[in-house]
Amino acid sequence: MSRHRELETPRLRLRPLEMSDLDRIVEFMGEKDVTKFLLYFSYPLNSEQVAAWLKNVLEANPEYCAYWAITDIESGRLIGITSLTLDCHNRKGDIGYWLDKGHWGRGLMTESCWSVVHYGFDDLKLHRVEISHMIGNIGSQKVIEKLGFQLEGVTREAHYKDGRFMDVKIYGMLDVDFVRTKKRLGEID
Ligand SMILES: CC(C)(COP(=O)(O)OP(=O)(O)OC[C@H]1O[C@@H](n2cnc3c(N)ncnc32)[C@H](O)[C@@H]1OP(=O)(O)O)[C@@H](O)C(=O)NCCC(=O)NCCS
Repeated sequence: MSRHRELETPRLRLRPLEMSDLDRIVEFMGEKDVTKFLLYFSYPLNSEQVAAWLKNVLEANPEYCAYWAITDIESGRLIGITSLTLDCHNRKGDIGYWLDKGHWGRGLMTESCWSVVHYGFDDLKLHRVEISHMIGNIGSQKVIEKLGFQLEGVTREAHYKDGRFMDVKIYGMLDVDFVRTKKRLGEID
């Protein structure tokens, strides 16, 4: 599979990550609340861990995952990261995301996530897209619910985070649900 394409929304451009993004990523991920519900990163942020993670991402096989830098379309500034982990055999993708705290609550991740959902179903012809979040991550839960993902269950104590096992809510959207959401959003008749 070739490199994943850039995505564009009214306010955002999602482009491939680059090694030169490292300092900016370390900067915004250093804010305590950004990593509060992330599985692989915690506060205080370990910048070597972020560098190793970014190197892995840049070397990853596009058949198994897509990562994008979420940038402000006007300024070009990196304000977040999103990913789509792929299971080609089952035509399934799993979305992850995190955003600079200074940009929360403006609907930006809903906008970004919807473009990734479109890419998954329209370009990659996925059958199913999943997202999950740790219990208590209300911002993420709202993004997921606004886009019409269905809650499919709670995996008990599935993620070990900062010394505690956390319950994780799992959501799914099938290609048929995607059509329903597009109708609801007025994208199709
Ligand atoms: C989760 C996250 C990506 C949401 O991004 P965002 O751009 O702020 O999301 P949106 O603005 O599209 O939607 C969030 C909604 O949740 C609401 N919200 C956010 N935090 C909330 C809270 N603690 N309590 C109640 N509502 C909350 C917002 O007001 C908004 O609601 P609205 O659409 O009714 O106005 C962002 O908070 C973030 O990066 N968090 C840290 C990383 C993270 O947890 N990633 C997800 C891992 S599963």
